[in-house]
Amino acid sequence: MTVYFNGEYKPKEEVHLSPDDRGFLFGDGVYEVICAYAGRQFKADEHFQRLGRSMTELRIQPPDMDALRRVPETLLHENGLEQGWAVIYIQVTRGAAPRSHPFPDAQTPVTVYAYAAPFESPAQELEQGVRVVLTPDNRWLRCDIKSVNLLPNVLASQTARENGAKDVLFVRDGAVTEGSYTSFGAVFAGRVVTHPDSHYILPGITRSVVLDLCAKLKIAVETYPVQVGRLQDADECMLWGTTTQVMPIVQVDDLTVGGGEPGPITRKLQKALRDLILDSNQDTL
Ligand code: PDD
Repeated sequence: MTVYFNGEYKPKEEVHLSPDDRGFLFGDGVYEVICAYAGRQFKADEHFQRLGRSMTELRIQPPDMDALRRVPETLLHENGLEQGWAVIYIQVTRGAAPRSHPFPDAQTPVTVYAYAAPFESPAQELEQGVRVVLTPDNRWLRCDIKSVNLLPNVLASQTARENGAKDVLFVRDGAVTEGSYTSFGAVFAGRVVTHPDSHYILPGITRSVVLDLCAKLKIAVETYPVQVGRLQDADECMLWGTTTQVMPIVQVDDLTVGGGEPGPITRKLQKALRDLILDSNQDTL
């Protein structure tokens, strides 16, 4: 596998990371995950914009972003991933410096790592729907930053796995915020409801695409935190994400949603997202 590391393309085995790297020592870094379909990156500009915002919020000096923007295409090419589905991972950390909590010297170069790998569509889960489990949202109060400091997400995701679920739904102040690597949406009486943009959730790119698709399909949208007690009244529930697409939720803990079948609005949005991905004019939505 050819990867990108600090300005160079090289075999993954030849990447040597300093043990002083602040990503390793402090989780002091940010990342993005982009999907590519038949070599075409989906909403890459939006992902790079969010990467830039995450760095600004954490006061990480950005690398040459024009150069970084070209990296995914080269990785797809170098790794023969111009057919089928691929996932691109990009990470920037505050660099390597002797361990000390405050920022290192301003001259310390950031560490940049990126790879592309084949990705298998979760076709069966998209078709049949998945189960999720509720878990307390014990993350920090800047969930809008896509930081590599993912320990609560890792623990939650493991909880999901151990309970035979696809993901968790994080619960803060009695309401669902999002999943451990996904956004959350529900349908009440024909209206799609999702948590408003705030420091409690990541501003998901897929979520934003789905909300645009709702506008296009004339599906009403409301943004407010869905109380856990109201889940039993939801006609449909969904997870949204780059690697998850529009994933029907058919069970929350022991509660069956929508009679255990993906609902009509979920199906409409799944199809609309798929069409958009397949559409070569994907940026003219
Ligand atoms: N996760 N919420 C969280 C906490 C996430 O980590 C993600 C993405 C999302 C969905 O955002 P988007 O639609 O922009 O992918 C929501 C990525 C895929 C990951 O960590 O692998």
